[in-house]
Amino acid sequence: MTNVLEMKAVMAAYDQSVILRGVEMEIPPNTIVSLLGRNGVGKTTTLKTIMGLVKATSGEISLSGEPITDMKTENRARAGIGYVPQGRDIFPTMTVWENLKVSLSIYGKESEERLDEVFELFPVLKEMLKRKGGVLSGGQQQQLAIGRALLTRPKLLVLDEPTEGIQPSIIDQIEDAILYLKKTYDMSILLVEQYLDFAKSVSDRFYIMDRGAMLMGGQIEDLTEELITRHLTV
Ligand SMILES: Nc1ncnc2c1ncn2[C@@H]1O[C@H](COP(=O)(O)OP(=O)(O)O)[C@@H](O)[C@H]1O
Ligand SMILES: [Mg+2]
Repeated sequence: MTNVLEMKAVMAAYDQSVILRGVEMEIPPNTIVSLLGRNGVGKTTTLKTIMGLVKATSGEISLSGEPITDMKTENRARAGIGYVPQGRDIFPTMTVWENLKVSLSIYGKESEERLDEVFELFPVLKEMLKRKGGVLSGGQQQQLAIGRALLTRPKLLVLDEPTEGIQPSIIDQIEDAILYLKKTYDMSILLVEQYLDFAKSVSDRFYIMDRGAMLMGGQIEDLTEELITRHLTV
């Protein structure tokens, strides 16, 4: 089966400083992959490069076998990548409903039907439709950001530290949602995660990144305590 996402020898830089130094990654269909690594190794930059928010200076990125390396960000979203950036990035002065509508207006009628599914996954959003995004708790904002990305029914959902600063009960709901999306829509999910217990319990596979490239990857069962201590513990 064709991989949902492939990165081959991807390099990327901010101005003069090279950050990604030949990133290789494969995400098979219907698979949850955790991208792990210490602070500053380039995890967020990898996700931004997948989205086209940072330009790949060389290498190739493909989505379901189609090259997207030079595609504009909005076209990557249309092609099937849903992205929830680190720190959630909702519109704080807009209501929950208006935040969701941003996606609805871009993607039209069919995504309206998906609203009901989002409310089933995250019922609190329905209760809070008229509240301003900025007054929601961190966990509720994360649910809103994920919910909004789901309205486009992506084939690949990309989440940057979805559990960061969120209370345990909501982390459980996010875990359930991720597993449900994989099971129900055959979605693949790429998440950057510092919270290893969460990464281990949702993921099928992992990559460990160090200084702008993948150090290793494998089945999540093969992520041993020794690897964690050697490559991930601060
Ligand atoms: N906008 C930016 N301009 C310049 N350097 C940046 C920018 N964003 C991140 N960096 C640098 O790129 C490196 C990788 O950052 P990042 O991808 O955010 O790492 P991670 O997500 O793994 O913590 C770090 O050294 C960071 O300081
Ligand atoms: Mg980061």
